[in-house]
Amino acid sequence: MSSFSRIAGTGSALPERKISNDELAAELAARGVQTSDDWIVSRTGIRSRHFAEAGTTSVDLGEQAARRALESAGLQPADIDLIIVATSTPDMIFPSNAALIQGRLGVAGAAAFDMQAVCAGFVYALAVADQFVRSGMAHHALVIGAEVFSHILDFSDRTTCVLFGDGAGAVVLSASEQPGVLACALHADGRQAGILCTPGRVSGGAVTGHPFLRMDGQAVFKQAVHVLEDVAREALARAGRTPADVDWMVPHQANIRIMTHTAKKLGIPVDKVVVTVDQHGNTSAASIPLALDTAVRAGQIQRGDTLLFEAVGGGLTWGAALVDY
Ligand code: ACO
Repeated sequence: MSSFSRIAGTGSALPERKISNDELAAELAARGVQTSDDWIVSRTGIRSRHFAEAGTTSVDLGEQAARRALESAGLQPADIDLIIVATSTPDMIFPSNAALIQGRLGVAGAAAFDMQAVCAGFVYALAVADQFVRSGMAHHALVIGAEVFSHILDFSDRTTCVLFGDGAGAVVLSASEQPGVLACALHADGRQAGILCTPGRVSGGAVTGHPFLRMDGQAVFKQAVHVLEDVAREALARAGRTPADVDWMVPHQANIRIMTHTAKKLGIPVDKVVVTVDQHGNTSAASIPLALDTAVRAGQIQRGDTLLFEAVGGGLTWGAALVDY
C-alpha cells in the first residue's frame, strides 16, 4: 500500500502527416464535400490535425508515447507492472492494445487491459490505475491514450470529419508518499449512447451496421457544457480544493468553445487552460495525455503545479481528475 500514485513521467507521439484546414478542405472538395478554414476555426478552434500514414496503428503510436514516458520517468520497461490503454480505435477486436504494447515492450507478466470510455477514456484509465497503485496491486503503471480516429471517419460527412485527429499520449503513474492523484470523479449515461457512436460491429465475417463515427454535435455540446463543470467541482470537492487552487486545466481537446466555457463557469482564467486542439484536433482518449506532455515539454507545466483534467465522450461518459504534478 502507498499513500498516493504520482505522475513520474509523460510522453506522446504524433504521426508525421500534418494536415491544415486548407489542405483538408481541398481534399474534401475533390470529393464534392464543402468546408473552409474559417468555418472550422470559428466553430472549433482547430487549425490542423495529424493523420496516421497507411499502416500506422494506435499500437504503433501508443508504444512510442509509452517509451517516451518511461524515458522521462527514468524507468525501464521491466519496471512496469500494469498497462492500461484507453482507446476506441484498437488494432484488433482482441487481444487488447495493452497486451500488444506489453508484448512490444517485452514486459511479459505485467497486467494489461484496455479501457473503452471514448474521449473520457484517459481519465477513466488514470482513476483505475490510481486505485491499483494505492492498493499495492501495482507499483509503476503505464496509462496510455492512443487513437487513430482517421480510420473511423466518414470523409463524406463534413460535420464530423473535420473535427478529429490521430495521436497518443502516456504517463507513468508510480507509487509515492508525496501527493499525486488527489481525487477522481467518473460518470456515464448510457441512455445517450446514440448521440455519439460508431455502431458497426464485425459479425459473420462482415461489418454489420455503420462503421463510421456519427455525432449529433449540438446534443453533445449541450451535454458537455452541463456535465463538465459539475464533475470538475465534484473532483475538487473530494480533494478539499477549489478552482482557485488549479494552476493548469488540461481538458479533453474537443472544441475550444467547450474548453473556455467550462473554465469560465469554474472561474478559472482562460490563460490557465492548456490548448492543443488548434494543432491536434480531437484525438479522443489521447488528447489529455498528449496536451499534458506537450505542456510539460514546453516548460508550461512545472513540478508542483496542480492540474485539473476533465473530459466527456461517447457513452456518454465523463470524468475529472485533480492531480498534483
Ligand atoms: N464546414 C462547413 N459547414 C459545416 C460544416 C463544415 N465542416 N459542418 C457543418 N456545417 C454546416 C451545417 O451543415 C449547418 O448548415 P445549415 O445551417 O445550412 O444547416 C451549419 O454549418 C451549422 O451546423 P451546426 O451543426 O449547427 O454547427 P455547430 O455550431 O453546432 O457546430 C460542432 C458543430 C462544431 C460539431 C459543435 O456542435 C460541437 O463542437 N459539438 C461538440 C462536439 C464534441 O465536443 N465532441 C466531444 C466528444 S467527441 C468523442 O467522444 C469521440
